[in-house]
Amino acid sequence: MSLKSNGQPRVPLVQTVGLKRYFHSKPGILARALAGEKERTVKAVDGVDLFVHEGETLGLVGESGCGKSTLGRVIVGLYPPTAGEVFYEGRPGTGGQMIFQNPYASLNPRHTVRQILGVALEKRGVPLENREEESIRLLERVGLAAHHLDQYPRQFSGGQRQRIGIARALAMRPRFIVADEPVSALDVSVQAQILNLLEGLQEETGVSFLLISHDLGVVHHMSHRVAVMYLGRIAETGPTESLFENPAHPYTRALLSAIPRLGKTRSGRIRLEGSVPSAVDPPPGCRFQTRCRHRKDICAAVDPPAVELRGDPGHVVWCHLHT
Ligand SMILES: Nc1ncnc2c1ncn2[C@@H]1O[C@H](COP(=O)(O)OP(=O)(O)OP(=O)(O)O)[C@@H](O)[C@H]1O
Ligand SMILES: [Mg+2]
Repeated sequence: MSLKSNGQPRVPLVQTVGLKRYFHSKPGILARALAGEKERTVKAVDGVDLFVHEGETLGLVGESGCGKSTLGRVIVGLYPPTAGEVFYEGRPGTGGQMIFQNPYASLNPRHTVRQILGVALEKRGVPLENREEESIRLLERVGLAAHHLDQYPRQFSGGQRQRIGIARALAMRPRFIVADEPVSALDVSVQAQILNLLEGLQEETGVSFLLISHDLGVVHHMSHRVAVMYLGRIAETGPTESLFENPAHPYTRALLSAIPRLGKTRSGRIRLEGSVPSAVDPPPGCRFQTRCRHRKDICAAVDPPAVELRGDPGHVVWCHLHT
């Protein structure tokens, strides 16, 4: 745990402890009758401990389906956890706002910007007579203007819609925002503008981000720390530079080897064998053992404990190679 300058332990703004979120799905009558299918439980998030400090961006990476969005949604309170706990501002409970990948799908097409922001401002308890002024202030903050107030989402470009999504999140004055693939639906030229906007907001207000992205370049550029997720669990976490320069988990090494410019990949690209196992029936022991080139007997038998790398504070790996 990091210390403040006065030697007191720093309480994270957001923390999860043993967080789990399972989804239960009932098969249709036909699947049950014909294939004998039973109810399935998808272990989307299966025991995650992480924290985000004030003013910090934690990047969250991992293959599709590993549970990143579910984790983000549980932290902000959109899904209740199946087990474990979320702490917000040091107390049990969820908090923060969410920015979504597809701003069009997340904005009501029948509402004007005025109405979209109005709903959020009303939730925050801003009196009706102050909402227009506050909405204009929010629009200007995200690079839009008063004349956009009475337009509908379809009248905006993708980048502008994402700005509206950000303004809506800011309307709640959050100290923490989960940005779930905030730029992956946007043109590359527009991506940089939105990322700059998020960085500027952080500088100004000290807001913290959990930044979920497939784009390791974006995560490298934006994050103070990074967490690597695999099949519902965190495999490795650490300060961005040390994680990118010195990845310790075979999974992280494979992920980073795909981007030679960022990862120090002396040995070239590491191809991952096989596909991600099902989150319905994850392998025992280390989740990554079925695809790991360094697998030992213990990997299939025992969950790897968290190990902090020597001389690298805050860089933690869950892997038997390091125990
Ligand atoms: N509402 C839901 N009901 C049932 N299963 C779900 C639900 N949401 C997610 N899942 C399942 O949980 C697992 C994790 O999904 P999640 O969307 O969190 O992954 P992700 O890491 O965000 O993937 P991506 O990178 O593709 O966005 C997947 O197996 C997914 O099918
Ligand atoms: Mg997702």
